[in-house]
Amino acid sequence: MARLRVFVNERPVDVARGATVRDAVAALDHGLADLLATAAAYVTDGVGRQVDARDPVGEAGGVFRVVVTARRAPAISKEALRRWPKAELHVHLDGSLRPATMLELAREQHVRLPADTPEGLTLALSVQGVHSLEEYLTKYQLTLAVMQTAAALERIAYEFVVDLAAEQVRYVEVRYSPLLHRPALTLTQAIEAPLRGIERAVRETGTRVGLIVCGIRTLPPAMSLELAQVAVGYRSAGVVGFDLAGAEHGHPAEDHRAAFALAVQHGLACTCHAGEGDGPASIHQALQSCGAQRIGHGTRLGEDPALLEYVVAQRIPLEMCLTSNLHTHAVPSLTTHPFRRYLEQGVVVTLNTDGRLVDGVTLTDEYHLAHTALGLGKDELVRVVLNACESAFLPEFERVALVARIQSELEKIA
Ligand code: ADE
Ligand code: ZN
Repeated sequence: MARLRVFVNERPVDVARGATVRDAVAALDHGLADLLATAAAYVTDGVGRQVDARDPVGEAGGVFRVVVTARRAPAISKEALRRWPKAELHVHLDGSLRPATMLELAREQHVRLPADTPEGLTLALSVQGVHSLEEYLTKYQLTLAVMQTAAALERIAYEFVVDLAAEQVRYVEVRYSPLLHRPALTLTQAIEAPLRGIERAVRETGTRVGLIVCGIRTLPPAMSLELAQVAVGYRSAGVVGFDLAGAEHGHPAEDHRAAFALAVQHGLACTCHAGEGDGPASIHQALQSCGAQRIGHGTRLGEDPALLEYVVAQRIPLEMCLTSNLHTHAVPSLTTHPFRRYLEQGVVVTLNTDGRLVDGVTLTDEYHLAHTALGLGKDELVRVVLNACESAFLPEFERVALVARIQSELEKIA
């Protein structure tokens, strides 16, 4: 598809032909684009005339400026947030590859991809513009196509940790489903390979890493159980948790309760994607039938006030992902995202990327978005970082040490 280069606030952005001015602003900064919707900002052209953000950008070379009329307190820059120590609890390894690595692996493995440049591939993998969680998940077929060897899995896991360490992520739990690497690899091979890559990156970066394995809702529950049986053997070798991912609506978590029960019985922590592609009953099931200690997303929790009260009282953390929720249409817009409301109601909310490549975000971006679009101030952002540390699937004494270390670092720089 033909791309046009235009300039927003002096910065070049590439958009599809026919894109609107708002799309161009969003390509630069989602938070800024959301301000346009609330009339807290407007756009002018190169000579200062106001333009309608719903108009098409027109020709290449167009110049636009966003004038913010009602932003709160001095903003915290993305650069500053990049320097904050952070923790991430919900990110898919198979959604977070480096595009250049993907191309190299495809060449080595003779796998055909829809593009042969990192930019083209990033565009082809982007989940912007998909219509549902189910369509969003189809992008993973492309990344998984180059992840069917132990060497590829090891490299991708290594690079993933190095990239997170570079943006000061001090603790990360990364997830994927070893089931999606069969028949090329056995479950054992598909678990040991990323563990090797992680171990090497941990030695080099000092970032602490836990691996979460995912059953898949649309695969037979017996496969989830088989995965849990293998995964518990790696409990003291880096596997910290069990999760259930995949299309949520019509695929109840309770079908997979035997896998969760086995994981819990052997001391693996459990989380479960829920309340993202389906309503609060799905969250209820994840908690009550599966024993999930955290919820992946939980976006629709607020539709059941009694359940929300329970989640607050039990201090059940939500692993929330703002940009991903926009992409999957779990929320219609960022301004209506319940993250801030949940925080104010006392829910232990955390911020996460879900997929660095497919969603096109870093953890720093998500914190910046929470700041610019949802209006979270410094103290609230610090609370969210500490929520993530306090919700880590770590033994109590290590969790306490992580919280203390990040808190003291934040006191010095935030
Ligand atoms: N697998 C990868 N991303 C996912 C998501 N957002 N929801 C459920 N399963 C997933
Ligand atoms: Zn997810």
